[in-house]
Amino acid sequence: MRQATTRAAGKSTSGFARPEKIARIKGVDGGASRVGEELEIRGWARSVRTQKERAFIDLNDGSNISGMQAVVNEGTQAWDVINSGVVTTGAAVSVRGALVASPGGKQAAELLVNELEVIGPADPESYPLQKKRHTLEYLRSIAHLRPRTNTIGAVSRVRNQLAYATHKFFQENGFLYVNTPIVTASDCEGAGEQFQVTTLLNGLQAGAGPSPEAVAAAESKVKAQGEAVKTLKEAMKAGNATKEQVDAEVAKLLQAKADVEALKSTGGTTSLPTNKDGSIDYTQDFFSKPSYLTVSGQLNGEIMACAVNDVYTFGPTFRAENSNTSRHLAEFWMVEPEMAFADLNDDMDCAEAYLKYCINHVLEHCDEDLEFFEKNVAKDNLRERLRGVASQEFARITYTEAVEHVLAAKKKFEFPVEWGSDLQSEHERYITEEVFKDRPVIVRDYPKDIKAFYMRLNDDNKTVAAMDVLVPRVGELMGGSQREERLDVLERRIEDNGLEKESYWWYLDLRRYGSQPHAGFGLGFERLVCYVTGVENIRDAIPFPRYPGSAEF
Ligand code: 4AD
Ligand code: MG
Repeated sequence: MRQATTRAAGKSTSGFARPEKIARIKGVDGGASRVGEELEIRGWARSVRTQKERAFIDLNDGSNISGMQAVVNEGTQAWDVINSGVVTTGAAVSVRGALVASPGGKQAAELLVNELEVIGPADPESYPLQKKRHTLEYLRSIAHLRPRTNTIGAVSRVRNQLAYATHKFFQENGFLYVNTPIVTASDCEGAGEQFQVTTLLNGLQAGAGPSPEAVAAAESKVKAQGEAVKTLKEAMKAGNATKEQVDAEVAKLLQAKADVEALKSTGGTTSLPTNKDGSIDYTQDFFSKPSYLTVSGQLNGEIMACAVNDVYTFGPTFRAENSNTSRHLAEFWMVEPEMAFADLNDDMDCAEAYLKYCINHVLEHCDEDLEFFEKNVAKDNLRERLRGVASQEFARITYTEAVEHVLAAKKKFEFPVEWGSDLQSEHERYITEEVFKDRPVIVRDYPKDIKAFYMRLNDDNKTVAAMDVLVPRVGELMGGSQREERLDVLERRIEDNGLEKESYWWYLDLRRYGSQPHAGFGLGFERLVCYVTGVENIRDAIPFPRYPGSAEF
C-alpha cells in the first residue's frame, strides 16, 4: 500500500513511522495550523452525503471521535469514484488532498480531496452499523464491529490512556511491573469462584469413540475381503490362480482386520481417573493438582514485593461468580500494587493518589472523548465532576461508621445491614453518593469474618486492616489491605478459614524469613473505565466482555 507522504505519527527515534492519524493532524487547534498541507488519510466512511456539485465523506480512522470531513468536488477523479456508488457507510477508503480551512462552523479544517481509493468496500445492504443510533445491547451482539461506533471507540481510547496512566504512575513512583501467573493452585480470595483448568476432560470428550456406522463399515470390508480370499483359493485349486495372487489378497484381509481393531481403539477413556475413595485423581491431571484461573495476582505479588520492594501487576483475572450484574465480568483486568514496609495508611494514600492521577491524565488527554460521554452517555457534568474528584480529599471512615450511616438512612434498601454483614452495592453507593455528596470514600477496618484470610488482624481481634475505595455510580472500585505479617496469627487465620495450611507453605515462608508489614490493593480496571466515562454497564467497558453465556467474540 502506498505510504503517506506526511509527517510521521510519532516522534520515534527508531526510524519507524506510521502514517499520521486524524487525531494528530487535528492536534489542539482542529488542524488550523496545518492548513495548506497535502495529506493522505485512510479510514472508514461513517457516512457519505452527495449534493449536486460536491460530496462529503465523514471519515473516521479510529483515532478520535470527530474524524475528518472529506470534501469531494465535481470534476475530480474522486467525484467519479463517489458517483460509481462504491463509497458507502463502512467502506475502507484512502483519500488524498489538501487540508483547507472549513467554511462551515463545525470544524476548523477539512480535507479537499482530489484522489480517492476504495480499499475495502462494504455492502450497504447488509452492513450492520447504519448511521442511526444503535442500543448498547444490540451492539454487544456485534462485538466484532462495535469498536467502530463512537461509544466503543471512545471507551477504547480512554481505556488505553488509563492503562498508560497506570504504568506512568507506578513507574514514576519506583514500582516494578511484574507479571503473575494466570494458572494457579491457590484461591487467593477464598471465595470459591474459580474456573478450573484441567486436561482430564480432553480424554472424556474424545471418549465417545468411533461411530457404530464406521465400525460396521470397516467390518463389512473384512467380510468382503474374506470372501475374495476364499474365491481365489478355490480358483488356485482349479489351477486358475497363482499362490502369489492368493498371498496378495490375504495380505489385504489382514490389513482390513487391523483397520477394524485400530478403529475400535480410537477415543479416550469414558470416565475420570479416580482414587480408591472415589474422588478425582488429580495426580493424573496436567499440573498434578487441582488448578484454576487466577482470581487475583496478589499472593505472587506479595512474593515479589518481599524481594524487589514495591511492585504492581496489571493483568487478567477470572471469577466464575454467576452474577449477571452491570458491575461484574467473568474475565476482568486488575491493577494490583503491593508495597513492602507499608501499612494501611500507606495503602490508602497510594490508592487515592493513583486514582487522582488517572483522572487528571484522562482529563488532559481525552477531552474530546470525555465531552462525548458527557453529552451522550453520562448525561451530566462529567468533566466537572471528575475535576472535583481529583482536587479534593477522599473521605475516610471505618466500616463501623459506614454501617451507622446506612442504619441512619431514611432510605429503604433491598438488603438489610447490621454490624458484621457485607456492604451491598446499594449501601456503598448511598454512602458515596448521598452521605458524602459524590465524593470517593475509603472504608476501612472491616469485620474479619467477611474478609479474606490474609488481611492483618487489628488489635480489637474483630476487624482487619482492610480498605475499600467506593466511588459514586460504581460502588466498590478498589479493595485492599495490609497483609498479616505475623506467622502465628496468619496460621490461625488460615485454619479458621477452613483452608489447608500445607498448601500455603510458601506464603507462610514469607513470614518466616524477613517478614515485614506490607500492603496492597486491587483496582477493577473496567470499573475504573465505567467510572471515568459514565458508561453504566461494565460489559461496554471492555471490547470483548466475558459473562455467563457469552464468549462468542
Ligand atoms: O476486592 P477484590 O476481590 O480484591 C482482591 O482480589 C485483592 N486480592 C486485591 C489485592 O489486594 N491485591 O477485587 C479487587 C477489585 C474490586 O474492588 C473490583 O473493582 C474488581 O476488583 N472486581 C471486579 N471487577 C469486575 N468484575 C468482577 N467480577 C470483579 N470482582 C472484583
Ligand atoms: Mg472487594
